[in-house]
Order: sequence, then C-alpha cells, then structure tokens
Amino acid sequence: MTYLLALDQGTSSSRSIVFDAQGHVLAMAQKELPQIYPKPGWVEHDAMEIWRSQLATARQALEKAGLKASDIHALGITNQRETTVVWNRQTGQPIHHAIVWQDRRAEATCAQLRAQGKEALIQSKTGLPVDAYFSGSKLKWLLDHVPGARAQADRGELAFGTIDSWLMWQLTGGALHATDVSNASRTMLFNVHSNQWDSELLELLEIPASLMPEVKPSSAYYGEVRPELLGHAIVIGGVAGDQQSALFGQACFKAGMAKNTYGTGCFMLMHTGQQFQTSRNGLLTTSAAQIAPTLVASRTALPPEGALSSLGRPDAGQATWQPEFAIEGSVFVGGAVVQWLRDGLHAIQGSSEVQALAQSVPDSGGVMMVPAFTGLGAPYWKPDARGTITGLTRGTTLAHIARAALESIAYQSAALLQAMSRDAVSAGAAPVAELRVDGGACINDLLMQFQADLLGIPVVRPAVTETTALGAAYLAGLSSGVYRSTGELSGMWRAERTFLPTLSADRAAALMEQWEHAVRQTVLQ
Ligand code: G3P
Repeated sequence: MTYLLALDQGTSSSRSIVFDAQGHVLAMAQKELPQIYPKPGWVEHDAMEIWRSQLATARQALEKAGLKASDIHALGITNQRETTVVWNRQTGQPIHHAIVWQDRRAEATCAQLRAQGKEALIQSKTGLPVDAYFSGSKLKWLLDHVPGARAQADRGELAFGTIDSWLMWQLTGGALHATDVSNASRTMLFNVHSNQWDSELLELLEIPASLMPEVKPSSAYYGEVRPELLGHAIVIGGVAGDQQSALFGQACFKAGMAKNTYGTGCFMLMHTGQQFQTSRNGLLTTSAAQIAPTLVASRTALPPEGALSSLGRPDAGQATWQPEFAIEGSVFVGGAVVQWLRDGLHAIQGSSEVQALAQSVPDSGGVMMVPAFTGLGAPYWKPDARGTITGLTRGTTLAHIARAALESIAYQSAALLQAMSRDAVSAGAAPVAELRVDGGACINDLLMQFQADLLGIPVVRPAVTETTALGAAYLAGLSSGVYRSTGELSGMWRAERTFLPTLSADRAAALMEQWEHAVRQTVLQ
C-alpha cells in the first residue's frame, strides 16, 4: 500500500492527515493553536508553538494509522497563508512572534504605498491590491520594529518565510529555505508572471533579497525530513497555501472550475488556467498550485536535488514552467455567524443545532441578516459596514433569525460567485457552471441546498471533504510518482452529493435583490 502524509497548518489548529493513494483518510490528528492578541487589530502566533504542535500531530497521525515514517511515500504541506515569520539562520530562533494574516498593524505602510501611487504597479505585478493582509508590509514592520533586525538582515543573518517555509526549515534542520509559488503570490513581493521575487517591489518595501526563500513549483522535490524527527526520512514533495491546495484537492485544474471553502470565513477560488485575469469586481488574482516542469514532461519520480534550484531567485530570469492563476474572493463572516448565534445570542448551545432550528420554519419569514461584523469584503468592500437584520415583524422568532443567519453565508457566497462569473464572461469565458464545496459548514444540507437555489447551478460536495490536506497529498504524490497526471486525479475525484437548484431563476433573482437591499442598509448614512 502507498501512503501520503499531509501537514495542514491552519490559523486555529495544526493538523496532520494520513491518506492512502486513493485519497481516503486513514488517520487524523489535530492540536489547537493559541491566538495572541497584543493590541486591538494585532494577531500573533508563537512560531515555535506552530512547529511543535505540527510535529506532534504528525507523530500522532502516524501512530493512529498504525504506520511508521518509512511507510510514507511522500509528505505534503499546506498552510495558513500570508502569516509572516522571520528567524535567525544560525540559531533557527524566530526574532518575533509570527504576524498572522488577520493582523492590521502594517496598514500605515500600505497607506503610504497608496499615497505614492503604487497600487497599479503592485497590482499588475502581483495580482493583489495594496493591503496589510499580505506578508510584504508585515515583513517590513518586523525589520523596522524588532531591535537590531534591519542590521542583521543587511548582514544576511535572517530568513523570512510564510508558515510553509518555516515548517520546511524546521523539518530539514535548516537545510531548506524554500516556498512554493502559491504562498509566494501572497507576499506582495512576488511577480506572478515570471514566478520570481520582484527586485523593484523588494526595494520599494526595503526588504533585502537575502531574506527571501527559494521559490519552487507546488509539486516538486523539496528535500527530506530529518530522520530523527519521525523515525525515518520522508520526501517533501508538495507545498501550497491552504486555499490553492483546496482548489487542487477539489480537482479544479481548468479555467472556470471553482470551489468554496465554508470555514469561519469563506474562501472562493476560480481557476483561470494560464490567464492572468484582473477582476473588475473587487476580487484578487493569485497563483494557483503549479507542477514542476520536469515532472509534467517526463512523469518520472523525483528529479535530482538542485535541478530546480536556480529558479525563484530574484529576477534570475523567466522560470521555465507556465504560471497558472486563480481569482479569489473571501467572505469575512461565514461559519462565524453560527458562533455568534451560540455565543452572542445564546440561541443555540452547540453549532450543530443550527440546522434543526433553522429547519423548524419553512423560510426566514422575510428576515435578512447581513453579518457585516467587521465590514464587508469582496465584492462590496465596505470596511465601515456593520451587521444588520432587516424585515423583522411581530411574528419573527429565533428560528427565523437562525435561518437568516445561515442563509447569509449562502447570500455572501452567491454575491462572490456572481462577481466571478461576471469576470469570466468579460474575459470571454463561460460563467461558472458548478461550485465544489468543502470546509466545516458544507455538511449542512440546508445551507448547501439554499446555495444551489440562489446560484442556479449545481453545488457539489465531494466524498472526501478534507480537500485542503488532500490537495497537499496529491501535490506530493504527483512529484513522487504515485500519480502520473492531474488527469488521473480528476478521474479519482468523487462527488458525495450534488445539490441541484430548485428555485426558478426569477425567484432566485428576487431573493438576491432583497439581499442587496439589506446590504445597502449596512452603512449608516
Ligand atoms: O488567507 C488566509 C487563509 O489562508 C487562512 O485560512 O483556514 O487557516 O483560516 P485558515
């Protein structure tokens, strides 16, 4: 039997999953990650704790599966994106806590870049708007604020990485300082057309190039885990940011294929093939997971170490594989609205009760909830918006509000998908034809059916909903010869249930109009 191990380092927990070659989950281990909130708007993680918890879950998952490290064919890594770590190359010690993607402390740097009129330049090179979400301005903050950091960086003593790089450094005992294109594309320092760190952007943010990791395709030979960590060396063969990994795990390999992950927030990505597409609807452009060219060409296992090592260096010339892209949008408050029903309104005791309460009424009775607790993201971009409930009557019950809360996840996702479809059509492509779903809340049948009703296209739930980790396992399996092509993976992907739309197009449009009306109420005039 062939087994693959996926390390899935997320914002709230570290997880490890053992898959068999058919993509079935054999064993899983998970450890919560403490969140550190030093000031309003700041979010940090202890990078050492990330590493320790990740290693602990890898050991537990192997034990639960009854396997040894020597039974594992290859390992894949997927991770919370943008979260920024800087460490000392000599000691391997971080110089500061990791700055988490949600952290807003670098906003002043971004405001300055916008004031300098750099938005168009940055967007054209990276696909991203200028925002503190991305790693570049967080990295600059660390160099500017940690005592001695800039001098150390100038002497070449420090290394920067997103969480994938940090884990690989630790897994290989400092032998590997690398990242993949999908993680690099979230830094605001990476030219997604040439797949190289961009020296103009590094200069703009005053980042010495010596800090930057080598960039590789997402499916490639990266290196080997030190044998003493898990009992035997394991090849690291795949790396991708969690949302791009989920897109890969959902077998969305072609332009127009889209997935939505229903977590605390929702992340929707649509593959656009080899086309860099600029959204006209407030979405961002990002690198999709990409495959090593030697593997695409030869389909053999493991290229020789160093074969790709000149790639990914700042402006080292055009990388030799074709970049692939996706457009992305996110919903800030997705499943978090259910937590609010539980912890804020005390309407339910546990999140699993929400479906039963919502289903106890035939519809929301005209109630609309817009959970703009932290403003509204794409496609609205209203940072000042606040949560709103409209349509209350004397007959409104908690059940109607619970239903409206659940439906708000589907409305927000529908607005995103409609924006994506508009982008696709204006680029001369077809609108999105089906939506593949994953993440915790996709088990909620009521929500998935309502999603299909609003979208008017099938909503498809896969047999394996651990698609983020599965994507990393697939990437590792491809580079190490378990799979021969993405075509083979497409053939293996199985739907568990397809939700077909049951509403007329007119009724769905009327509901979306009511939603848009409620959205307009979220900003006080
Ligand atoms: O861009 C942030 C995203 O990668 C975080 O994902 O699942 O860790 O919340 P998650």
